[in-house]
Amino acid sequence: MTASDLPAAVRSLMPRARRELAELVAFPSIADPALGLDEECRAAARWVADALRAEGLTDVRLLETPDGTLSVYGELTGVPGAPTVLLYSHHDVQPEVDANAWASPPFTLTERDGRWYGRGAADCKGNILMHLTALRALRQTGDGRLPVNVKVIVEGSEEQGTGGLEQYALAHPELLAADAIVIGDVGNFALGLPTATASLRGITEVRVEVRSLQGNLHSGQFGGAAPDALAALIRMLATLHDEHGATTIAGLPGDQSRPGVDYPEERFRADARVLDGVELIGTGRIADRLWARPAVTVLGIDVPSVEGAASSVQAGASALVSLRVPPGMTIRTAQDALVAHLEAAAPWGVQAVVTRLTGGEAFSAETSGPAYEALGAAMHEAYGVEMGVCGMGGSIPLCNTLRTLYPRAEIVLIGVEEPSCQIHAVNESVDPVELERMSLSEAYFLRNYARSWSPTA
Ligand code: BES
Ligand code: MN
Repeated sequence: MTASDLPAAVRSLMPRARRELAELVAFPSIADPALGLDEECRAAARWVADALRAEGLTDVRLLETPDGTLSVYGELTGVPGAPTVLLYSHHDVQPEVDANAWASPPFTLTERDGRWYGRGAADCKGNILMHLTALRALRQTGDGRLPVNVKVIVEGSEEQGTGGLEQYALAHPELLAADAIVIGDVGNFALGLPTATASLRGITEVRVEVRSLQGNLHSGQFGGAAPDALAALIRMLATLHDEHGATTIAGLPGDQSRPGVDYPEERFRADARVLDGVELIGTGRIADRLWARPAVTVLGIDVPSVEGAASSVQAGASALVSLRVPPGMTIRTAQDALVAHLEAAAPWGVQAVVTRLTGGEAFSAETSGPAYEALGAAMHEAYGVEMGVCGMGGSIPLCNTLRTLYPRAEIVLIGVEEPSCQIHAVNESVDPVELERMSLSEAYFLRNYARSWSPTA
């Protein structure tokens, strides 16, 4: 076969990609220590290591990272004088949330209406198969030697935000060094619309605990004068949004904008599955709200549940609050403002303790280099449509670590996680046509990048 046969090679590899994705999805590799699934996580890591070895990668290793999870590393030497490209994905997944709400078992890859359903089918096991399929297609259509040197790193705790791989990479600064880095952990702006993701928001979380009484009280005997900790918490949390639902944190700008494409409101409403008659929150262009501005979300509240609730005034209540932080703002600055805002918002002198949790910095890519040019041509060839560039509101903290370690490396973000995948939700799925086209895009990218690369550039 010749290079012009890449589309045929990728197509012929799709049944294998499906089989292997089903094997990988079958591991409930949720890296939360509280769930006791460590053996499943390790098994998923071993599966990835075996797949890399089978692909001819050398020095394949399971890396014990400081948060107790396993990242998988391997490398493949290409033709002499080739540039080095690092391919990234993660093998851990989000919890299935509510297994009964799934139309098919979450850890059994199941085809329905032309899509493949399962936890991690898109985020991020689908992207692992994208990398494998691209490498296979290139090796089949060439003389077996790749046009680039490849390093592969597959993280084991991305969804936890515990930073194991970040710490490992900082302690082993040569390990992931590359000329270009492909972060396979995002997706196209819309199904079938090839897109590079040029920015990510950072994330920081805080825990808020409010105390007001030595113990709960009868809501009739004491209600009306006793300081209600839950009412206090609700008031505090309510100050984080204005009447339009825009995030309002004292001292933190919320009016930034980002040049480039907007996210049409109708498309956003459909992607986000907003109910009829319900308004969107925030103001200004939707792309700015999602990609350029801070956004606060209350992730959980510890209060008595409705079922079985006693008629009591609460002595204490707590919440977990997340803040997405746009490029141009450090998470430290943003967290300082959030903590000060919440402390100042505590009414009636209640005791409010705000605890800082970890997070990861925002990221903004440099899009004018040869890797972006190679990617644009690759996606155009694979999809027959011009590549777009968009931002993304989610976070991948490792991007910043890689930028710090390798300031000269170009970082491109691509993948199969388009909006209809419903990543992190029940009934997550991947579109097999998207997987095929993204595998082909990545294969073309590696070929194009090798052609355009010169060591002095
Ligand atoms: N794959 C997502 C990032 C993403 C989000 C891509 C939205 C495309 C659209 C990634 O796995 C993720 O969820 N990251 C976490 C990071 C956090 C735990 C530090 C996130 O954004 O919450
Ligand atoms: Mn992911």
